[in-house]
Amino acid sequence: MDLEKYIAIVEDWPSKGISFKDITPLMADGAAFKYATDQIVEYAKEKQIDIVVGPEARGFIIGCPVAYALGVGFAPVRKEGKLPRETIKVEYGLEYGKDVLTIHKDAVKPGQRVLIIDDLLATGGTIEATKKLVEQLGGIVVGAAFLIELTYLNGREKLSGIDLKTLIQY
Ligand code: PRP
Repeated sequence: MDLEKYIAIVEDWPSKGISFKDITPLMADGAAFKYATDQIVEYAKEKQIDIVVGPEARGFIIGCPVAYALGVGFAPVRKEGKLPRETIKVEYGLEYGKDVLTIHKDAVKPGQRVLIIDDLLATGGTIEATKKLVEQLGGIVVGAAFLIELTYLNGREKLSGIDLKTLIQY
């Protein structure tokens, strides 16, 4: 299936010069959403995953059906102040300034094999920060999967230690 035709490209959004990749048409199409999910499940199923970890907000949308299909749990990574119990946090750089990502302290157990999932790999900053959180809890990142990769932003280089799977490349 050609998944690219389910991605809507929105120029100059949310700000001038950004070519936004909108995944909502893919999510709205049952066959395309299932196909994309199945592709990631296929990639992950030999990896003996214990838990899927996904950053907000679109990492939840892709990560949860994959976790369900693998029969494992899902742990959310969220911006600071959103998770109700004890968390650990990591700062990460944005294009301008920085932000903080958090995870519940008991979300990943030492030695667990973790699959990270998000909708899109751009600079790789979000996933690098997510990996740090998982590793601080003693988890092992055995792979990371994305619907979309913006290859021109070289996120792959930043994540050179991680086995990556992306379904659509720009
Ligand atoms: C987007 C996207 C990824 C991240 C990728 O999320 O969904 O999570 O950026 O960028 P990076 O590889 O350069 O880190 P965003 O920060 O817009 O958050 P949201 O999903 O909560 O809107």
